[in-house]
Amino acid sequence: MKTPITKKYIDRKTNYIINSDTNVALTDFKDGSIDLMITSPGYFVGKNYEKKESFAEYLEYHTQTINLLKNKISPNGSIFWNVAQTPLENEIIPLGAIYYKIFKDAGFYLKNWIIWHFEGGINTKNRLSGRYENILWFVKDKDNFKFNLDDIRVPAKWQGDKRVNPKGKNPTDVWEFKSKDLKEEELRFFIEEIKKDNERTKSNINDNFLYIDRVVNVSNEKTLHPCQFPEKLIERIIKASSNKGDLVVDIFLGSGTTAKVSKELKRNFIGIECRKDYCIISQERVGDTDNGKKENKNK
Ligand SMILES: C[S@@+](CC[C@H](N)C(=O)[O-])C[C@H]1O[C@@H](n2cnc3c(N)ncnc32)[C@H](O)[C@@H]1O
Repeated sequence: MKTPITKKYIDRKTNYIINSDTNVALTDFKDGSIDLMITSPGYFVGKNYEKKESFAEYLEYHTQTINLLKNKISPNGSIFWNVAQTPLENEIIPLGAIYYKIFKDAGFYLKNWIIWHFEGGINTKNRLSGRYENILWFVKDKDNFKFNLDDIRVPAKWQGDKRVNPKGKNPTDVWEFKSKDLKEEELRFFIEEIKKDNERTKSNINDNFLYIDRVVNVSNEKTLHPCQFPEKLIERIIKASSNKGDLVVDIFLGSGTTAKVSKELKRNFIGIECRKDYCIISQERVGDTDNGKKENKNK
């Protein structure tokens, strides 16, 4: 895959997958060009795509990334930064808390600390098994940012209640998704079931129809990448914090989930990924990109 890293390509209206180190590629973005950044860096857990480095070096690299981002994000732009908890020398390092301080020092403001709860994962023997990750939503301007609440409302539990907004309710800051991707007709079916249940039992129905696990081992979305985002998770973020035509960027693209969903939602996208094999997976999932078009011409 040819991966251009020149200023003429890093433009708001292009769709690229760039095979590069993140901090190198980021310097080529125009200031203020990124409307929405969604990403998940390595968690320093020894995955095969992580560099062999000390925790201090890991933090130094990502601090540099975050400082570069400060100028590249548009004035009303957002960053969604997904991390978990890292076990290190018999203690747990809360990456979210560490990154919060780095973002704050760089001048960003936290809007939500989203807990993404899922089932499945490692069962630990000497502490509680971890079943959530953190998605930290930062903005550059705390009074002026995009938030399209109506585009991400979820069905309310009490459908017949006059106090309930007919458009649905705020999805809150605790997110759970179902292990298989629900199609619209399936979702409608579940809503009907819930309505019936409400009438029949008047009891408290929980939201488990909106429960989607991690992609690992359970979903037909799965690629060879070990840490793939579920598409529904990215869809909610893109709808909430960007508009059609905006530029959405994932600086640790992995299998290309952010690029794929951005394209489906008619946003422009740029993804940066240092591993060529993952770039190829992304390219296959996304289909036509601007670098893909150029390559085809050269064949
Ligand atoms: C947690 S994974 C992201 C997975 C992604 N959210 C998805 O849906 O597939 C992090 C990715 O960042 C890439 N990566 C790590 N360090 C990088 C760097 N310095 N520059 C570019 N990519 C990097 C890794 O190869 C890995 O694919």
